[in-house]
Amino acid sequence: MRAEGVPGAKKRILLVDDDVALLRLLSLRLEAAGYEVITAASGAEALAQLARRRPHVVITDLRMEGMDGLALFDAIHQANPTLPVIILTAHGSIPDAITATQRGVFSFLTKPFDGKHLLLHVEKALSLSGLAPDPATPEADTAWRQEIITRSPLMEDVLAQAKLVADTEASVLIRGDSGTGKELLAKAIHRASSRRHQPFVAVNCGAIPEPLLESELFGHCKGSFTGATRNHPGLFQAAHGGTLFLDEIGDMPLALQVKLLRVLQEKQVRPVGATRTVPVDVRIISATHRQLEQELRAGRFREDLYYRLNVVTLELPTLAARREDIPLLAMHFLTQLAAKSKKHVTGFAPEAMELLVAASWPGNVRQLQNVVEQTFALTTTPLISATLVRKALRDKPGEILSFAEARQRFEQHYLVQLLQVTGGNVSRAARLARRNRTEFYKLLQRHNIDPALFKPPPA
Ligand SMILES: Nc1ncnc2c1ncn2[C@@H]1O[C@H](COP(=O)(O)OP(=O)(O)OP(=O)(O)O)[C@@H](O)[C@H]1O
Ligand SMILES: [Mg+2]
Repeated sequence: MRAEGVPGAKKRILLVDDDVALLRLLSLRLEAAGYEVITAASGAEALAQLARRRPHVVITDLRMEGMDGLALFDAIHQANPTLPVIILTAHGSIPDAITATQRGVFSFLTKPFDGKHLLLHVEKALSLSGLAPDPATPEADTAWRQEIITRSPLMEDVLAQAKLVADTEASVLIRGDSGTGKELLAKAIHRASSRRHQPFVAVNCGAIPEPLLESELFGHCKGSFTGATRNHPGLFQAAHGGTLFLDEIGDMPLALQVKLLRVLQEKQVRPVGATRTVPVDVRIISATHRQLEQELRAGRFREDLYYRLNVVTLELPTLAARREDIPLLAMHFLTQLAAKSKKHVTGFAPEAMELLVAASWPGNVRQLQNVVEQTFALTTTPLISATLVRKALRDKPGEILSFAEARQRFEQHYLVQLLQVTGGNVSRAARLARRNRTEFYKLLQRHNIDPALFKPPPA
């Protein structure tokens, strides 16, 4: 993902070195590769530059007069935890590189290095940074898709098609494996249409038992069956003027498929037990993770309904087919969680992020979201470690843990909750748990939990 040739997509690098000759040399090399370079001859100057223009990557020398590279990293990391920092060191002077990478330094480059090597590090840092791409051209109206996080060209194709059909009345069928974002896309299409101020109503046809689904969709009259104690307008009427999202349409029973087809053709619903029909104006978006063609051949899905629903098909790619989205999504979910909790977690250790990017993701974005939630809950350090990610990736949903493992997780989760509630106040946490302070400290130690992590960050 080189920046060359793409107008407006130039990535910015802040280059810091007190050796002016080297600074010039590296700038030329990076500019030749298509990057925009800002330079600074000291840590202090770098911080000043940083306040002015946000770079996508920082490359800094380690040994500098005044503020050295690691101190500069610390200052940067405080304010911008996701900004990758690459540190240049003279051979043999790697300062406890391991600890530094655990703190979040993206990588070390030992001098002398060749230009190619430097470019590789920069590209890798950019691809793993989880930075949102530069906002699109200002005239483009992007509010409708703002919840869809992506920088994948495959997804951009789907979104471009979605935008084209959004403001037509065409029925849209969204296909994609589970967790690829079908419902999110359906909502975005609604938002891009002129129906956006009317309701968006979603119904999962696979989750409602067959006898109930009909009255859920079309409504019923009071007394039409046992339990129908009042009139119920149904979801078609609830979505009047707006969009009805029929999720898992492949699971709809045949008998109901006939009725649905009639409603779509006549634009009228007849609630169960009613004698008259009611006109409805509804745009239909449906979704399925099944191969509907197979269902057609097997006689489980009506061909006429299939053509009615499937005027336009949008196919969402799996997460594995758009790995460049993984850092972006992971940071997005992490930031959401951090905003809701008192826990001070700023990102993933570089090795942890590499694991995320390389994983197979059969459950797609939903699974990624779960892994981020789990690791966020369990982390005891501001950067989520590779070990935690590895564990979460191994977890199979519904798997039974060993007693020891389950208890260990429970204890850890419990302690973290206590510290969250008390803002890292150990005495109060111990009191809530009805343990004395010494015992409580031992527990924290056993689980490797640092209470300082839960103290509110200084204003
Ligand atoms: N591109 C994306 N950006 C941000 N969040 C996303 C994206 N794609 C999916 N999500 C989130 O992932 C979760 C799963 O998405 P969604 O429910 O739309 O998928 P789905 O295809 O309908 O899944 P299922 O087949 O399991 O019903 C949701 O919480 C959604 O907000
Ligand atoms: Mg869904």
